[in-house]
Amino acid sequence: MFDFTADPDLPKPERYRQLADAAEALISGENDVVANMANVAALMAEFIPGLNWAGFYRLVEGELVLGPFIGRPACIRIPLDQGVCGAAAKSGQTQLVADVHEFPGHIACDAVSASELVVPVYRDAKVCAVIDLDSPTKGYFDADDAAGVELLATRLSGSI
Ligand code: SME
Repeated sequence: MFDFTADPDLPKPERYRQLADAAEALISGENDVVANMANVAALMAEFIPGLNWAGFYRLVEGELVLGPFIGRPACIRIPLDQGVCGAAAKSGQTQLVADVHEFPGHIACDAVSASELVVPVYRDAKVCAVIDLDSPTKGYFDADDAAGVELLATRLSGSI
């Protein structure tokens, strides 16, 4: 049994460090990318409160394809010129969106999503996937969340 316990009272940077450490422990020695993404999606849902969706889209032959996640069923394929996820994958930059309804081309997979954080994951210096977090609260994510998920993405590089 894996027993990773998130402490909700820890400051965010420390909580994200623990998440990254837990993820690294879970994926080390395992080279199946689906298993690794599935376990990390589960960890994100445990360590990050206030989410309605947490998971991965993989970059496959020039478009994003749904990967392991926790939440409601979601859009399966996203072209790179669409949505917050497409913008993150195309630019290679984190997208922190306080109000998804203000984002041109936002794709509403779950009507309750109000804010979104999408962070690219790199493999061999190219984007191979994005981590997507949705919250039903407007303006939910801040710079600490972006930095924390970027740390996680760095640790996942080469394992997903
Ligand atoms: N809202 C995303 C699509 C994925 S869902 O949030 C799970 C977007 O605009 O890219």
